[in-house]
Amino acid sequence: EQSERDSLFIVSDFAAKHYQQRLTHHEQGSIGQSYLKQRGLSSNTIRKFELGFSLDEWTDLTDSAQKAGYQQKYLEATGLTIVKEDGKKYDRFRGRVMFPIHNGSGRVVGFGARTLKSNDKKSPKYLNSPESDIYHKSNVLYGLFQAKQAIRMQDMCFMVEGYLDVLSLHQGGIENVVASSGTSLTEGQIKLIARYTDNITVLYDGDAAGIKASLRGIDLILELGLNVNVVTFPEGEDPDSYIQKVGDTAFKTYIKEQSLDFISFKTSLFAEEAAGNPVKKAEAIKEVVASIGKIPDAIKRSVFFRSCSIIFDIDEQVLISEYNKMQLQDR
Ligand code: UTP
Ligand code: MN
Ligand code: MN
Ligand code: MN
Ligand code: MN
Repeated sequence: EQSERDSLFIVSDFAAKHYQQRLTHHEQGSIGQSYLKQRGLSSNTIRKFELGFSLDEWTDLTDSAQKAGYQQKYLEATGLTIVKEDGKKYDRFRGRVMFPIHNGSGRVVGFGARTLKSNDKKSPKYLNSPESDIYHKSNVLYGLFQAKQAIRMQDMCFMVEGYLDVLSLHQGGIENVVASSGTSLTEGQIKLIARYTDNITVLYDGDAAGIKASLRGIDLILELGLNVNVVTFPEGEDPDSYIQKVGDTAFKTYIKEQSLDFISFKTSLFAEEAAGNPVKKAEAIKEVVASIGKIPDAIKRSVFFRSCSIIFDIDEQVLISEYNKMQLQDR
């Protein structure tokens, strides 16, 4: 017997195919196609990630699904159709490029949808499917299905922020890449990666706010016993814009040269801010010691206490006794 969840998978799959058909075989789809081309994506990449287009009409998907015999309740449960208070129905996604989101076994569970307008203050840049019985945002990583083999082979996973970052890196030959899609990293997402590798390299967008906001999520990676490296990009660039700008080869060289273990990265970040200010320096040291304290492995911890003591120019024993103090407080 077909379960409720099966029905949600099936209607999501229908929608993904519908949006794909609209992109490739509908006259309006050419707007979507030229947008994607302008973003530097090849038809190969577009096909591989099953990108699509939602027509700029109120009920194109809802009507097509109904005609094909899909039940209204499943369209609503996946958030593809929205019902107004007066009972009128309309499509959630309209006039947008569609990014289907797959679970680990490759089934479509939801969508991200980008507006084609470059700066429209009225509607958000991306709309996303709501949570449903098949889509739990905190347990999904965009691109994981397409990346998992490469993650295992390279024994490393690149973490990026956005859909376009995943697509551009893939196209440039870096296939071991997934996106958290704007949300801060969760334990569930990290555990998904840990099935394939212990090594994560975080590729931040090049803005200070984004970096600060991500520190907490990275502590979580350490806590779960994985190794984390960090690469930052020049102000205003993200992995997508940067690889499109400098090309595949220069990009690969850049991330090799800039890759820094997270503790050294965080230490330098805070040490720089605290330069010449003893009070700030003391706070910075506590902040970094707290991160090191998350690492379950004692040998790794001691390696990081050593490198941290060099960057802060402070006795290693001071860091270790600070750590011991924190341990006592946490009990
Ligand atoms: P960014 O603002 O960095 O967008 O958000 P982007 O991925 O670089 O997109 P482009 O290059 O402008 O097309 C990173 C991610 O945060 C989520 C999306 O998953 C996006 O890819 N996001 C962002 C949203 O969900 N809604 C938004 O309005 C903006
Ligand atoms: Mn559930
Ligand atoms: Mn950003
Ligand atoms: Mn970005
Ligand atoms: Mn971008």
